[in-house]
Amino acid sequence: MTNFYATGGTLPPDARSYAPRKADTDLYQALKQGQFCYILNSRQMGKSSLTVQVANRLREDGIVVVIVELSGFGTQLTIEQWYNSLLTKMGRNLGIKKQLDTFLRNNPTTPVQRWMQAIQEVVLTHFKQSIILCFDEIDIVRSLPFATDDFFAAIRSCYNERAQNPDLQRLTFCLVGTASPTDLMANAQATPFDIGQAIDLTGFTFAEAMPLAPGLQGQADNPEAVLRGQPFLTQKVCELFCQHTDAPLTSGQEAAYVAQLVHSHIIEHWESKDEPPHLTTNRNRLLERDNSQHTWQLLGLCRFVPVTARGNARSAGNGIAFDRVNGQTTGGQLQVFNKIYAQVFNQQWLAQAQRETLAENPYLGLSAFQAEDAERFFGREQLTAILLEKCRDLDTAQLPRLLPILGPSGSGKSSVARAGLMPALLRHFLPDNVQVEIFTPTYFPLKEMAKLLVTAQ
Ligand SMILES: Nc1ncnc2c1ncn2[C@@H]1O[C@H](COP(=O)(O)OP(=O)(O)O)[C@@H](O)[C@H]1O
Ligand SMILES: [Mg+2]
Repeated sequence: MTNFYATGGTLPPDARSYAPRKADTDLYQALKQGQFCYILNSRQMGKSSLTVQVANRLREDGIVVVIVELSGFGTQLTIEQWYNSLLTKMGRNLGIKKQLDTFLRNNPTTPVQRWMQAIQEVVLTHFKQSIILCFDEIDIVRSLPFATDDFFAAIRSCYNERAQNPDLQRLTFCLVGTASPTDLMANAQATPFDIGQAIDLTGFTFAEAMPLAPGLQGQADNPEAVLRGQPFLTQKVCELFCQHTDAPLTSGQEAAYVAQLVHSHIIEHWESKDEPPHLTTNRNRLLERDNSQHTWQLLGLCRFVPVTARGNARSAGNGIAFDRVNGQTTGGQLQVFNKIYAQVFNQQWLAQAQRETLAENPYLGLSAFQAEDAERFFGREQLTAILLEKCRDLDTAQLPRLLPILGPSGSGKSSVARAGLMPALLRHFLPDNVQVEIFTPTYFPLKEMAKLLVTAQ
């Protein structure tokens, strides 16, 4: 059967090899009830395909659903350009581009306000039925050159205001991407994620993968050897199986045959065979620069937990647990939930990555961490977030605006201020809006202060 399997990219709504999982029902029901939903998981776990399928079902129920891929309009944009592009894209998908363009021209408020007003005043007025707005590739906001907390806060406020404005009950949001809620929105008070429904995606169990079995017809009597695991890899293995198996296999041979096939076509020299990219994407994700804190932990502290031979759905197919999405390592261990990953990202790979990435010693000894050490400063994320929050509050507080960080000697005050709070402030307020200087009073505080004021720009 040609083209039964599809590897790479979002599956179209009518894909014959689409296998529904529990997440399909969960997402459908939650969105139908108007709940804010988010699907945050590793790449190629089927997030976008799931969204497309569920959107189709909801449209059949008469609900207006629009899916906007946020990666489509680039990252080198001003805040104004970004929100305008977002509205234009929404307008095009909803068939009301003209109305939204007119609204844009005539409403010179701030970009995020205008975006939300356009949704409430134009979109909700134009359509009388329920509307679901899905934003895919939401992790792109982390690459934008401006803070996006307001975007998430605006979504949250739509839910908060439902009681006063019943029209908002017709409006539902769904966010899809590869990031954790705290990566996307640090402000715990305004985050929409704690009022939403997380949609959990796992690898296929054998039963779930049965819709993929017809493609193997006549070639394997016992499809269990092929059908199970991470969605993309399951499709890939099925495809390989069809391409390379001439005669039907006799029962009992499948497991060894598939192991050999996977070894020679996926694992051995995987860098040159990874098409469409999957293992490379996972490798990059583990080592990517903006994930450096995890990278340091991974390379510096982790040891592998071997994958269980035939575990449950989660252990069979949920990719690499060491991922900002799938959570932390457990007790400094890298858990690999898939046999293919375990063979690719093995001890040897870890040792090599350590050699290449860990040029410097991650331990600073007894000296305090400085701003430039931020990438290897761990364990104070929560405290940093609290301090940042307090600094934000100070911004509007009465004088004197002072935030003391007090603690016994050696408890890490300087390090958290310099390697935690300082970079967080610069990230949050952007370098143009804030200047951070370190002032050490010494025995001559006035002199030191004068020196600092002279040298500071
Ligand atoms: N429910 C599914 N049934 C069958 N295959 C799937 C399913 N979901 C994903 N896949 C496979 O995984 C690939 C990646 O899916 P995609 O939806 O693009 O993932 P993500 O959006 O999480 O990156 C698809 O091309 C397909 O091969
Ligand atoms: Mg996707």
